[in-house]
Amino acid sequence: MKHLVSLDDVSAEDTHGLFQRVDELLEARKAGRGGSSLQGKTLAMIFQKPSTRTRISFEVAMKELGGDALILREDEIQLGRGESIADTARVLSRYVDGVMIRTFKQSDVEALAEFAGIPVINGLTDLEHPCQVLADLYTVRERFPEWTKKVKIAYVGDGNNVANSWLLAAGKLGLHLSLATPEEYPPDADIVSRARALASESGAKIEIGGDPKEAAAGAHVVYTDTWVSMGAEKERRERLPRFKGFQVNAELLSAADPQAIVMHCLPAHRGEEITDEVMDGPQSVVFDQAENRLHVQKAILAELMANQTKEG
Ligand code: CP
Ligand code: NVA
Repeated sequence: MKHLVSLDDVSAEDTHGLFQRVDELLEARKAGRGGSSLQGKTLAMIFQKPSTRTRISFEVAMKELGGDALILREDEIQLGRGESIADTARVLSRYVDGVMIRTFKQSDVEALAEFAGIPVINGLTDLEHPCQVLADLYTVRERFPEWTKKVKIAYVGDGNNVANSWLLAAGKLGLHLSLATPEEYPPDADIVSRARALASESGAKIEIGGDPKEAAAGAHVVYTDTWVSMGAEKERRERLPRFKGFQVNAELLSAADPQAIVMHCLPAHRGEEITDEVMDGPQSVVFDQAENRLHVQKAILAELMANQTKEG
């Protein structure tokens, strides 16, 4: 792996190798051994949208591996005044060892990767959220030893960036993913085609429909995300009524396997896509999931940056 722009960059072997590394990092952490694999390395993080988990987990991850992180808000750097992505990439490559970017357009992350001589990590775009879904997969693997074979994952809600990354992950890893979205908010059509093509090789079972109960039936994982993603706030009023029936609540959860876990990438809009009862209930793993962002990103950073030298 050179960059993490899309989950399409990550093969099944990469994912299994990454998770093995996460296990090792967690063992070392428990034994009180910090890492030093990124000593002397700096990660620059560009934020064109807000963040709590991504920002903090990446910064702590760099520090735990002996490196450092810089947080660059769009309005603090010349990118926000029109300097091009390509020039920003070329300049950053002279100073730092890796860049994480949270932005709107997937093509901006692709351009950054094209022009940067250092690894680029997608920290969320309108199209994808690969770091999130890698942490989610690790969380599923913690709960279900046979996670790639016998687990049905139901994604109920908006066909957004998180849903798109889940589709690619399912296609790559051969998972059973059942998606239910309102007809107005399906996942990205190109990603659906790509996931189906991947599924024909990996044996993944990918179901896409509009019935939350059908998706949740017998599922081992019930996943949801906000109905109003960052950047879609102006659509809030027209969006909410279209998600009627898509809430993850006790009734929907009763259709799932009795041992099912409930996942949400957070931030949650309690009372909209998920009820308090479910989010705070015994089946919820949402805070383990949030914690795993840290552990999984440490492995991603080590994989991409440990043997990287600065350009110049
Ligand atoms: N899940 C996630 O990416 O959270 P933040 O927006 O807080 O980074
Ligand atoms: N789909 C959400 C994820 C937030 C982490 C958004 O893009 O706002």
